[in-house]
Amino acid sequence: MTIKNRKLEHIAICKNYDIEKNETLLGDIKLLHNAVPEINKNSIDTETTFLDKKIDFPFIIPAITGGHPDLIEINKRLAKAAEEIKIGIGVGSQRAAIENPELEKSLKIVKEKAPNALKIANLGAPQLSKGYGVKEAKKAIEMIDADSLAIHLNFLQEAIQLEGDTEAKDVLGTIKKIKNKIKEPVIVKETGQGITRETAKKLKKTNIDAIDVSGIGGTSWPLVEKIRANNENIQRKKKLGDLFSSWGIPTAASIIEANIGPQIMASGGIRNGIDIAKSVVLGADCTGAATPLLEPATEDLESLKNKIKLFKEEFRLAMFLTGSKNIKQLKNTQFVLKGRLKNWTTQRNIEINR
Ligand SMILES: Cc1cc2nc3c(=O)[nH]c(=O)nc-3n(C[C@H](O)[C@H](O)[C@H](O)COP(=O)(O)O)c2cc1C
Repeated sequence: MTIKNRKLEHIAICKNYDIEKNETLLGDIKLLHNAVPEINKNSIDTETTFLDKKIDFPFIIPAITGGHPDLIEINKRLAKAAEEIKIGIGVGSQRAAIENPELEKSLKIVKEKAPNALKIANLGAPQLSKGYGVKEAKKAIEMIDADSLAIHLNFLQEAIQLEGDTEAKDVLGTIKKIKNKIKEPVIVKETGQGITRETAKKLKKTNIDAIDVSGIGGTSWPLVEKIRANNENIQRKKKLGDLFSSWGIPTAASIIEANIGPQIMASGGIRNGIDIAKSVVLGADCTGAATPLLEPATEDLESLKNKIKLFKEEFRLAMFLTGSKNIKQLKNTQFVLKGRLKNWTTQRNIEINR
């Protein structure tokens, strides 16, 4: 299967199958209700800065689609929504378009339709192990006129994928080289397995600017690859996908773990505005949701914008009910931890960095 067709298969599976793990642990943080907020809900300031760029609220469209002629329309809608709502947009892996310039057109649409939005280019760590470096990073950035570069870590997915790359060689060294040679900020992201404090410390040493924890709780790549393996009837891969579907760090725990300096983005199971507010309280500077945007993005621009605006409205209400006039106040709002998240922080001896 070619990389470009694999992308279409991933999107179809995420849209049509139950591939969510529902284990973010965001249910284990309770924000405290402020019965007398003493603020006007309509004058709450949701604006924030992520990767050196202002965004309307702490949410961006994370990496989803890549280069493929059939994806032009979706990429166009995602870009327009990001531009009009004034949030950010990450593109999916640009490997296919780097290897086959005919595919660039479907990604270049992003810079055309979102000239002012925060745009994030994307390369995968497995490719860094195979020789990708500064040249490819610059090419990916230039292709969409990106403000920033994301490097994704997806070794579990690769291991379960029928045609995956499982060589993880000098990834940190190459990230450091890229960071030193490009002027744009660099974000390193997981793809659904989360980041521990130990990994965050190693990443911090490479001087990167942000970490997207992308923890367990939303799209599960082991389950997606299991379905692909199922389609091709490969039982061994199917079993691996099942066995490892809960492998990793739940998103809420990972926000706390990774918050040691670089900006933090929370993705992996962010499904409404309360999840966004809770993530910010736990230490995130920004959030993102991928699978929930697939359905509206395939419908039309209005449906996509409505979905994102709903996230914003829910987030604003959570700010109102915690008496937070702006993001700084929300970050300092009171909360209670319970259950597995409380156990996690106790056993790991990690405090929330506020
Ligand atoms: C269809 C699809 C394709 C994705 N492709 C990429 C990718 O190419 N590069 C990347 O860094 N992340 C990719 N992701 C991961 C997302 O950016 C995100 O980290 C992850 O899906 C968790 O968020 P969610 O639970 O809201 O879906 C993809 C996600 C989806 C649903």
